[in-house]
Amino acid sequence: MEFRGGRSRGSHGGPCARPTIGYALGMSDRAPTPTIRELRADDYDALVALWEAGGLPYRPRGRDARERIEREIGGACSIFLGADVDGSLVGAVLGTHDGRKGWINRLVVAPAYRRLGLGKRLVDAVEERLERIGIEIVTCLIESWNEGSMAFFERIGFLPHDECTYYSKRKNADV
Ligand SMILES: CC(C)(COP(=O)(O)OP(=O)(O)OC[C@H]1O[C@@H](n2cnc3c(N)ncnc32)[C@H](O)[C@@H]1OP(=O)(O)O)[C@@H](O)C(=O)NCCC(=O)NCCS
Repeated sequence: MEFRGGRSRGSHGGPCARPTIGYALGMSDRAPTPTIRELRADDYDALVALWEAGGLPYRPRGRDARERIEREIGGACSIFLGADVDGSLVGAVLGTHDGRKGWINRLVVAPAYRRLGLGKRLVDAVEERLERIGIEIVTCLIESWNEGSMAFFERIGFLPHDECTYYSKRKNADV
């Protein structure tokens, strides 16, 4: 896995330019408005269903196992957020930090709610929480097959780094 190249297509502007949720989602006054909130341990099944519906690979016997996610939720390094519409989880992100950098992991929006600004709102919410603790760099790793995700991140202001190659050392293939 490595960072993928490509030209940045710019950002959405500064915080002052951020629209309200309803505007961002292009919804009418009567349409449901998503609520961004902290994920809870009892969201695990809905989270997995969302990853599956969203076509996002995950590691059920490794770092995405129920006990791992439940243990990390609410942890000092975790910014695990969900987006609800009418009580259903329609988007989620597992933000983390290592004290130096913030990381966007497992970002997903349900197919029916895509291209409405929800993915950006979830990333913005992680960034805002990172800023509060003094972390000013937010990063993500995107697998080379995931061109939609690359386009999304570039669109919201992230820059690709062709010069980086991802290395890892694993206890086993599941982690
Ligand atoms: C990637 C993902 C989270 C984006 O969520 P989303 O709610 O549709 O994104 P937003 O509506 O906030 O999009 C923000 C901007 O990115 C653009 N964008 C989003 N997906 C895009 C795509 N596939 N191709 C090109 N641009 C895209 C939007 O058009 C928007 O730009 P605009 O404001 O100029 O119109 C969603 O497509 C998804 O869940 N994908 C499957 C899971 C996945 O791959 N996650 C990432 C793992 S690294």
